[in-house]
Amino acid sequence: MIRRVINEIRCDITAARDRDPAAQGVSSFEILTSWAGVQALLAHRLAHALRGAGVPWVPRAIAYLTRAVTGVEIHPAAEIGTRFFIDHGSGVVIGETAKIGDCVTLYQGVTLGGTGFQRGKRHPTLGDNVTVGSGAKLLGPIAVGDGAKIGANTVVIEDVPPGATVVGNPGHPVRVEGRKLEGPDADWIHLPDPIADAIKALSERIVELETRLASVDGGKADAAKHEKSGIKPRTGRSSAGG
Ligand SMILES: CC(C)(COP(=O)(O)OP(=O)(O)OC[C@H]1O[C@@H](n2cnc3c(N)ncnc32)[C@H](O)[C@@H]1OP(=O)(O)O)[C@@H](O)C(=O)NCCC(=O)NCCS
Repeated sequence: MIRRVINEIRCDITAARDRDPAAQGVSSFEILTSWAGVQALLAHRLAHALRGAGVPWVPRAIAYLTRAVTGVEIHPAAEIGTRFFIDHGSGVVIGETAKIGDCVTLYQGVTLGGTGFQRGKRHPTLGDNVTVGSGAKLLGPIAVGDGAKIGANTVVIEDVPPGATVVGNPGHPVRVEGRKLEGPDADWIHLPDPIADAIKALSERIVELETRLASVDGGKADAAKHEKSGIKPRTGRSSAGG
């Protein structure tokens, strides 16, 4: 057990040394005592284990104190793989149902969050070898494929294919496996939806027929239909508004 914990700590320190140029030639003691991202991760590993063992309150207290010291907030229930590294710490938020694979790097200001007040799985799942640039927001129960790169300040609200580089708001792939996307099949995220297209075409046809019918009977048809069914045309603010 102790050997396993020591091995995990060694792995997490090695991840910092491998992926942070500023950690080259720095001793393990110095990394442990002054790399906020490493401290936050080790504290999370403890909180997560205590939560798994059914210990009440303490995991949350550890997460709270860790946030106060490092600026990194990780929910004790979040699942994090091996060799995880948060560069610079500060401003990172990792939600309760987030799942992170092995060898993942997050820069400062990254959010792995939910989109609203829904319950259940509501945070992102990151595959192995994913890099998320500073300030990026990944929202909702989306899946980010192995080896994907998310650009700084990107807002990702849809699944990301493996090996893709995603940038912008909303995030869209600009590279897959390092190759630029070109041609009509360049968009791998917004695939055509023939059923939605058919429904849209039918509904446009109905509107057209209603308009023609209204012009024949002087506009009575539409009003009569709404009266009979008890449905009134909607007025006022759209529910889509804020
Ligand atoms: C997204 C990122 C990983 C891309 O790296 P890459 O795979 O080498 O890709 P490129 O640099 O060739 O960029 C690909 C395209 O995306 C654009 N791009 C890159 N990063 C972007 C970003 N954050 N926002 C918007 N566009 C971006 C590039 O201009 C380029 O556009 P083009 O196809 O028109 O030429 C990198 O730019 C990035 O943002 N890394 C995060 C680094 C970070 O957060 N550092 C903090 C240190 S404190």
